[in-house]
This record gives sequence, C-alpha cells and structure tokens, in this order.
Amino acid sequence: MELFEALTTRTSKRDFLDKPVPKEIIEKILSASLRAPSWANSQPWEIAVSTGKTSEFIKNSLYGLAKNGTAINPDYPFPNVWPEKQEANMFETGKHRFEYIGIGREDAEKRKEFTLSNYNFFNSQTAIFIYMEESLGLWSVLDCGMLIQNILLAAHNNNGLGACPQAYLTVYPDVLRQAFGLPKNKKFILGISIGYYKTDSKINGIKTFRNDFDEIVKFYD
Ligand SMILES: Cc1cc2nc3c(=O)[nH]c(=O)nc-3n(C[C@H](O)[C@H](O)[C@H](O)COP(=O)(O)O)c2cc1C
Repeated sequence: MELFEALTTRTSKRDFLDKPVPKEIIEKILSASLRAPSWANSQPWEIAVSTGKTSEFIKNSLYGLAKNGTAINPDYPFPNVWPEKQEANMFETGKHRFEYIGIGREDAEKRKEFTLSNYNFFNSQTAIFIYMEESLGLWSVLDCGMLIQNILLAAHNNNGLGACPQAYLTVYPDVLRQAFGLPKNKKFILGISIGYYKTDSKINGIKTFRNDFDEIVKFYD
C-alpha cells in the first residue's frame, strides 16, 4: 500500500475474526515498526505479544475485574479533566460511534457491554503490549507513540489485518505483569489488539472526523 493511502485510510478496528495471526506476520510488522525514531536512539520500548493461553488469562482477568467494578490503576494515570476543545472532540466521537452502531443514549447495558468488549481484545486472539522501565519519562512515552503508530500502519498494510490501540488494556497493569512475569518497575503504556477484522461489521466501518485543517495548521512566512 502506498504510504499516503495508508495514512489516510487506517482506522481502528473493533470486531475481529476468531482467527490467529501467523507469528511470522507479527514478527514482520514489529521488526519494521522498530525502525521508529527515538530520543538519541535510546529505544525505550519493550514489547510483549500475547496469544493463546496468555491471551485467555489476560482477557478473563481484565474482564472479571472490570465487571466487578474494580477501581482502575493504570501505570500512567488517565487525565481527569480535558480542555474544552478535546472534551468536545471526544464527546462527538463517542456520540457518533454509538449512533453509528445503533446503541441509543438510554441503552446503558449495551454501552457497558461494548466497553467491556475492550477487555476481550474485541475478539482478537492477539494483543501487543508496549511497556517500559519506570525511570523513563515523557520523552520516552513519545518515542513509544511513534512505535505504536508504525505498528498500526504496518498492520493496516497487510491485507485483512487491522488493529486497535487501547488504553483500556492497561487499566489493571498487575494482571499484565503477572501474565508476562515482569517486575513492578516495568510500566505499561498501551495495548494493541491486532487481528483479521470482520469486513461486514458496522463498527469496523467507522471513519472518525478530524478538526478542520485550517483550525489546526498555521503557516508563518
Ligand atoms: C493512546 C490511545 C488510547 C486509545 N484507547 C482506546 C481504547 O481503550 N479503546 C478503544 O476502543 N479505542 C481506543 N483508542 C482508539 C481511538 O478511539 C481512536 O484512535 C480515535 O477515535 C480515532 O479513530 P481512528 O483510530 O479510527 O482514526 C485509543 C487511541 C489512542 C491513540
């Protein structure tokens, strides 16, 4: 796929087929993605790929904790308050998503069910987790973001493959440390569900809006 086509057509996928992604494909995606730039080539990222029984353990554990209403404790705390503009963007995106898939505002049960499906990797068998040493800071999180976007685009470049970056997968990080046998000083940034997505699923057809170009970009001569 041509690069500009990949940039403009990638979307998050949230309904996957129950079909494994061959290990060689994951390796190919990750080895190319690891060409991402980083501060002085520090390469702060570490990656855990979960499949099979490990995925089952993570899915069941996260789902169980969330369903019981266990308080979240992500390693990188979620913002409590967003500036007005970003709050409005998020509100609009959520509203459009639920309208698009036909879940009404009043249908709290269906909304909750959809949110819980995050913990099931949206039915994918595979998830990629990005984590790093706790003493690393903000700049290293930025580096990991570049790696993550590479992974999303590389997945999109493979026919039939899709991905969803998910903060939700990091809300109970002790589960992840247990699953991967990691010490406390390894901190989770993001999970990415990756798999063959259902092409006929409504939710996979969502194209999210972007703010007007001229509102964002200013040229200064
Ligand atoms: C850091 C980060 C965290 C995200 N967390 C979630 C998540 O937990 N669940 C989810 O369904 N989507 C999540 N997303 C996906 C965003 O909702 C999505 O990227 C955004 O709505 C734009 O849509 P698009 O990716 O289809 O262009 C996350 C994206 C990013 C970059």
